[in-house]
Amino acid sequence: MNIKEKFSNLQEKLEKNVWGFIPMLALVLSIGGIVEIVPLFYIDSTIEKLTKEEDSIRPYTALELEGRDVYIREGCYLCHSQMIRPFRDEKERYGHYSLAAESKFDHPFQWGSKRTGPDLARVGGKYSDDWHRRHLIDPQSVVPESVMPKYAFLEKSIIDDTMTVKKMKGLSHVGVPYTEDDFNGAVEEVKGKSELDALVAYLQVLGTMVKFEEGKDYRE
Ligand code: HEC
Repeated sequence: MNIKEKFSNLQEKLEKNVWGFIPMLALVLSIGGIVEIVPLFYIDSTIEKLTKEEDSIRPYTALELEGRDVYIREGCYLCHSQMIRPFRDEKERYGHYSLAAESKFDHPFQWGSKRTGPDLARVGGKYSDDWHRRHLIDPQSVVPESVMPKYAFLEKSIIDDTMTVKKMKGLSHVGVPYTEDDFNGAVEEVKGKSELDALVAYLQVLGTMVKFEEGKDYRE
């Protein structure tokens, strides 16, 4: 019996024996998984390096972080993605495609894939704070055909500042470089602010941290 026949014999036996087949399948899949996933934890190229001029990526301020938590709690991600793909139509509508580095301090990231509304990865600076407030309180007052729900209650809901520093400390455990100064100033920054203030601060910073050269691709 040559090697080829031996293998097809083995295969035939395995395929007819489910208790042999399951461990073999698990073995093969886990090798495949390990080969693909493990290098991502080590290779530097997973997150691209930005030049000094481009790289102004910083952790969220206390207020922005509280806004981000409102964004997550309210499920904004169910209708909005935050990832611009590298296709021409996306770039023309939303701006430069998203870089991994831009969400390196996001835990969890808000990339998403559901777009009932537009992508928000670069919405920062697109509208005034006042526009955002009016839009969040009553979307149809600025975009009559909008199907976005009203979030007027956020204006009356005051941020719970007892949690802010704890949240920041939690994030610093997973590698977000908050400093003692950040912790010390956090409560003062959010004190008495509404959840609407925080959400607007968060929306206004989205996509504004990396300074791209006009019309130029990151990799060019
Ligand atoms: C049911 C789906 C839905 C949900 C949930 C939703 N949105 Fe929207 N959003 C939309 C739609 C549709 C539009 C486009 C029409 C408009 O501007 O209102 C939009 C537009 C926007 C815009 C303007 C984007 C642009 O570039 O013009 C912002 C900002 C925004 N949403 C933020 C939020 C935030 C923050 C939340 C959570 C508090 C949220 N949305 C929840 C559907 C939704």
